[in-house]
Amino acid sequence: MNTTASTEVHLEALQQAVNLAEIETLGRARLDQNALDYYVSGANDGHTLRANREDFARIRLRPRMLVDVSRVDTSTSVLGLPLGFPVGVAPSAFHGLAHPDAELATARAAAGLGSVMTLSTFSNTPIADVGQAAAGRFWFQLYLLGDRELSREIIARAGDSGARALVFTVDAPYLGRREANERHRFALPPHLSAPNVASRETLAGVETDTGSQLTNYFQNLVDKSFTWNDLDWLRAQTELPIILKGILTAEDAELAVQHGCHVWVSNHGGRQLDTAISAIGALPEIADAVAGRAEIYLDGGISRGTDVIKAVALGARAVFLGRPALWGLAAGGEDGVRRVLELLREEVRLALALSGKQNLGQVGPDLLRMETSPLHP
Ligand code: GLV
Repeated sequence: MNTTASTEVHLEALQQAVNLAEIETLGRARLDQNALDYYVSGANDGHTLRANREDFARIRLRPRMLVDVSRVDTSTSVLGLPLGFPVGVAPSAFHGLAHPDAELATARAAAGLGSVMTLSTFSNTPIADVGQAAAGRFWFQLYLLGDRELSREIIARAGDSGARALVFTVDAPYLGRREANERHRFALPPHLSAPNVASRETLAGVETDTGSQLTNYFQNLVDKSFTWNDLDWLRAQTELPIILKGILTAEDAELAVQHGCHVWVSNHGGRQLDTAISAIGALPEIADAVAGRAEIYLDGGISRGTDVIKAVALGARAVFLGRPALWGLAAGGEDGVRRVLELLREEVRLALALSGKQNLGQVGPDLLRMETSPLHP
């Protein structure tokens, strides 16, 4: 079969996929071991990775009946940016491992559907190129580098390229230990680089003979000493709203708000501190602490429209997809990411309708019943 014919077959399979799990199957089949290990792995034994999903299933819905749901509005906004539905794309490194169009494909799909993409510091595509493709619908995820001058340049580049917010990842001074990546020596293939942070030569300079090369990049590039006291420095570098990504406790949410930041509840897709609480499990105490003073977002474990409305009911303004977007990208580039987002949008619409809700404003804690202890120890 020639490449065009095989691409067509693949796109047909994509259109026939009825849920995100089926797109995951298609995406996985297109990846080599290096990329697959990288995307699937959680830290250590994967307890937190699994808890992200399982804790969604522990929450039950209390639907109301005989409500006029002939029109259901899924729209919302994040930091003033209108979204067609409360779902964006979370940052993840190296989209070039999934598809040759890399972050450009993700950005186009998200923008085309009125969503928002968060571009990783460790992207394979320069910020300015993604900025153009994203047509104003992108946030920039920042890893603060030991080299402050380079960090300053990256932040400025993000602003100049049209990013609407800075998503500062606070849970990764070191990289969690993903054992498959260590075992198989995860490395960027020679045709890919991380143009925002380093030249291919610089990266080669920090490569070692053992372990995951991303761990080595992190070890060498990322600042490990940054604290709450340094947030004023970050604030002074940009006019953009700052979102702290990786918050899991009420205490840190309170500090985030005191520092004028928004809050992104996340455990980094279960890839950092294994046995840390699930994202949805952390959300109630964080929403209580924030008490409407900042916007709250969440990633981790979203695979269904019902997951999305559960997170909204517990106080998230929008949720973000990490792995599901990557599976879509691997399965079919821009078309694949679009299909993932479209499926979820329609699931959100149906979940709202069947819950007796006409819009997201009507979704609150009364929609939920917690089944078992992990959410309320
Ligand atoms: C990078 O942020 C990773 O989690 O691999």
